[in-house]
Amino acid sequence: MTAAATHGLAREAMVRPLPDPKWDPKRFPPALHRTRLVSTLKVNSDPVGEFLRARRSIGPVFTLKVLNHPGGIVMAADVETNRQVLTDHELFAPGDAADLLEPLVGQYSLILTPAPKHTRNRKLLMPPFHGQAIAKWNDTIAELVEQQLPDLLTGGPVAVRPWAQRLTLDVILRVVFGIESAERRDLYRRTLGRLMKPRVSVLLFFPSWAKRDLGRFSPGGVLDSRRKAVDALIQEEIATRRADPDAGEKQDVLSVLLGAHDEDGVGFSDAEISDELKGLVLAGHETTATAIAWTLHFLAHNPEVRDKLVEDLDAGSKDYLGAVIKESMRLRAPVFDAIRMATRDTELAGQPVPAGVLVAAHFSAMQLDPEVWPEPEKFIPERHIVEEGGEKPSPWALTPFGGGARRCIGASLAQLELEIVLAQVLARALPEAAGEPEDTRLLGVTLIPVHGGRATFLPR
Ligand code: HEM
Repeated sequence: MTAAATHGLAREAMVRPLPDPKWDPKRFPPALHRTRLVSTLKVNSDPVGEFLRARRSIGPVFTLKVLNHPGGIVMAADVETNRQVLTDHELFAPGDAADLLEPLVGQYSLILTPAPKHTRNRKLLMPPFHGQAIAKWNDTIAELVEQQLPDLLTGGPVAVRPWAQRLTLDVILRVVFGIESAERRDLYRRTLGRLMKPRVSVLLFFPSWAKRDLGRFSPGGVLDSRRKAVDALIQEEIATRRADPDAGEKQDVLSVLLGAHDEDGVGFSDAEISDELKGLVLAGHETTATAIAWTLHFLAHNPEVRDKLVEDLDAGSKDYLGAVIKESMRLRAPVFDAIRMATRDTELAGQPVPAGVLVAAHFSAMQLDPEVWPEPEKFIPERHIVEEGGEKPSPWALTPFGGGARRCIGASLAQLELEIVLAQVLARALPEAAGEPEDTRLLGVTLIPVHGGRATFLPR
């Protein structure tokens, strides 16, 4: 499965879907000589290795054969083709795989919203996600991290990702949903967990007929009842908030959405708000947890970088911290691609791209391009610190949050979470390697460390 499954896949294409074209060597960029089955298995067992093999032997634009698309997916894996795919919204429109997500988040989430409504909704949703609005949450997030640190700093080996998943979900429940009570957050965590757990999301890949609600034990029935349980909770919250005279003072995303309206005075309906919130959980929770896990894992395996970062933070600077976060997301892009659909026959880097094919701006392969990032597999934060007058890499060479009209709206929140977690952990403990550096596994849209990013945190 690709990032098609959760990020930035609106349904423009579903309005007038183009047929998924069949593989034809004359109309597609070259692919590695593998069957679709072998290629799919390889991508699942060693995603980064397989992408890089294709890039090395074919070039920056290649076709990845996969089971669920007869023609495969065209991968754009260098700086220029990445820019083209992310910014030419007319030629590379968000594709039709988004309907896959509808049983989870509902039809109104921004992730699934077609243009031009996407532009209008994004404008209404954006204000609480701007850097300055997000900075106000600093102390709240720091408090949540502080509460959860004892589970990380046990003195023994810990898989960081599960720890971070709980934290990032709590942050969303506080910042996005505005839930202040710990008991109520527990209730949300359980109810959302039942809907979003991987065992349930696998049901999304069942054929459409199997996703219809055919009774409570059918895949469609399970998804439907779990989504309704989440909707009921959100509905209660909306009703409480609407009845609260002080609600206008609150700054969480839900409160802002309740008061938002466009130039015609039209706001969001309750159903739209509910889907928006579910979409934000889906887009913002696993992704940020994955980034936290990789960054601490890389620090544990690169003690000289870790010590330099500790020294810099102790001196009250955040300069090196920013470079460490960039380098972690360069080396392992938490969301590894953004999927679009070619709206007509075209070319990328001289390779043919047929109308209707899915095209991926492939961040993880592009960010490991040795021509742009020398010694790409090494963790070297210094490469992001450019001296005055020095040459900066193109902004399209590092796009973990995507780019263009669908760039991640949660980027400032994710960045703040990463900064707070790293500063608070490193103030108390030093991450040490707990075993070998971990390989990468595909999980939904994310490339995760295979054992959760294990590390041991030794008290300072
Ligand atoms: C390190 C963490 C994160 C990463 C790496 C990440 C990455 C991305 C990427 C690559 C896209 C663009 C996909 C595309 O162009 O098709 C995206 C979109 C999006 N992200 Fe994130 N994300 C992160 C955290 C968050 C958070 C914390 C939230 C909110 C709570 C969030 C909400 C969204 C939404 C709503 C979109 C869709 C935007 C649109 O379609 O206009 N993300 N994200």
